[in-house]
Amino acid sequence: MKFQITFLPQNIITHAPEGTTVFNAANWAGLAIDSTCGGRGTCGKCKVRMLAGANSITDADRKYLTKEELTDGWRLSCRAPIHSESIAQVPRLMTSPKAALLGYGRHVAIDPNVAKVFLELSEPTLEDQQPDLARVVAALDKEGYAVRADPAVWRALPKMLRQNDWRVTAVVVGDELIAVEGGDTRDRAHGLALDIGTTTVVGAVVDLNTGAVAAVQSTLNGQAPFGADVISRSSYTMTEADGLATLQTRIVDTINTLLDQLLAASGVARENIYEAVAVGNTTMLHLLLGIDPEPISVAPFIPAIEDAVTLPASEIGLRLHPQARLSTLPHLGAYVGADIVAGVLATGLARERDEKLRLYIDVGTNGEIVLGSSKKTLATAAPAGPAFEGAQIKCGMRASDGAIEGVQIDDDVRLQIIDNAPRPIGICGSGLVDAVAELVRVGLVDATGRLMRPADARGHFCDALVNRLIEENGVRAFLLSAPEDNIVLTQPDIRALQFAKGASAAGVDVLMARLGITAQDLHEVLLAGSFGSYINPASARTIGLVPWVPVERIVAVGNAAGEGAKIALLSFREREAANRIPEFIEYVELSGRPEFNDIFTEALAFPTATKDERRTTE
Ligand code: FES
Repeated sequence: MKFQITFLPQNIITHAPEGTTVFNAANWAGLAIDSTCGGRGTCGKCKVRMLAGANSITDADRKYLTKEELTDGWRLSCRAPIHSESIAQVPRLMTSPKAALLGYGRHVAIDPNVAKVFLELSEPTLEDQQPDLARVVAALDKEGYAVRADPAVWRALPKMLRQNDWRVTAVVVGDELIAVEGGDTRDRAHGLALDIGTTTVVGAVVDLNTGAVAAVQSTLNGQAPFGADVISRSSYTMTEADGLATLQTRIVDTINTLLDQLLAASGVARENIYEAVAVGNTTMLHLLLGIDPEPISVAPFIPAIEDAVTLPASEIGLRLHPQARLSTLPHLGAYVGADIVAGVLATGLARERDEKLRLYIDVGTNGEIVLGSSKKTLATAAPAGPAFEGAQIKCGMRASDGAIEGVQIDDDVRLQIIDNAPRPIGICGSGLVDAVAELVRVGLVDATGRLMRPADARGHFCDALVNRLIEENGVRAFLLSAPEDNIVLTQPDIRALQFAKGASAAGVDVLMARLGITAQDLHEVLLAGSFGSYINPASARTIGLVPWVPVERIVAVGNAAGEGAKIALLSFREREAANRIPEFIEYVELSGRPEFNDIFTEALAFPTATKDERRTTE
């Protein structure tokens, strides 16, 4: 059950599941309430005045608030769960946190989970024999950080304190004291944001003081030789005795090598990377953590864990600061993973206060779809197959040098080739979408996906185009390149694309039907992922991959997953909001839905919007 909570004087209204704390509900609504402890009830800074829906008084309230304040309805918002419709008066922030523009045009307050606290401690005397650790912990407590110390801190502390005249910097990650450094090192604090894709891994070293990205690089996932998709990776762990260990080692090695490159490029020291936030699909994160992914790949598709986890990064072999922590974001389901949660975080979908309906599609082998607004949001996954990645396409290839990435057809064919290579050597996903969309647009491919025969085209199309309609071993094809390069688009290629886009479009249709909306209600369509960034929005619409909305409403949001990981790294409030996304989004499983097959069959055709429809939306 959800209850409405209103924050005054900002007049921000949000709805939160019963039991959500007022502090977390504010984070979800994008409203910052003062805190240094991250909502753990130990800093005493997060007080709000409950004007309606007041809670009973807790021990933490008594510790930090005066009797008068308690009588007046003031409570620590992080200790105040919502059990009824509530109104909270929020005091102005004592300090205005630095903000950075991140994700999809979002201003994010920089308030990382990693805190470096400079301490000037008094030296022990015969009158003051407080042990070293207790001295550090007490000093941190005064600053609003209640911590547990990592064993590595106990061992290093005696020398560290005495060699540095009792002037040290405590490194706190969450509620754990992971290190104590000599002198004032507050200006050196970095984190690692990781987006672990089945094909590519993207890493960014981020300055936790400023939000600036010190270096960003991508590399191929070292698991690639063990299969192109999550199903084949899972199969490998099932068929090989040491398959899981092998795949975990591969991804850890990939990240360590990527980090070496990032450190070299940025000049940042390894010892100053205190935390990593990793996102990725459910299978990738299971493999990273060394968890058997087999149950994800077979019905009823059950992941071992769905919540965010935090563990010492060294436990799985990551080479950051020796006591650095690794955190993940939660999954929404077996096939809608933490990468999509991160994308939702980066775009603000489901949290926008204006209730605009938005559709988020991460197009790939598995199409992940999120649809909704702050009112209600649904998510699903549609198995699109490998066509978008250029696989199972006669001249298909990955998006690399020499790939046709764009196609335009007027009185002849014009090609856009990656890296402006002199001659094309194949066609990648965005080129495939463009080529088919252009053929549909000019009428050489009909709504059912059939490519015209030369005899039917002659007289209706110019010779240059008719001469490109060929037949190879009885299979119709369209010659995209010059004859000597022989890059063709075959009838089966068009069918493969229809299946891929049909699955994704059917997923969108199911979610739209569940929300009772049509394309006209969509405020924006967000295309995420590397494929989504390169695809031509008009072409995506022409083939029916996205609903028929005005083309300016179709926006490429780039690597939204990586942006979400950065945001989670830079703001514990945003991370908290991300961790709660599964509570706010309903996962819809397509495979159990009887109507899905009919919707899918219908979605195979290319859209035939009437001229009137096109005029009103173009
Ligand atoms: S006591 Fe620190 S956020 Fe509530």
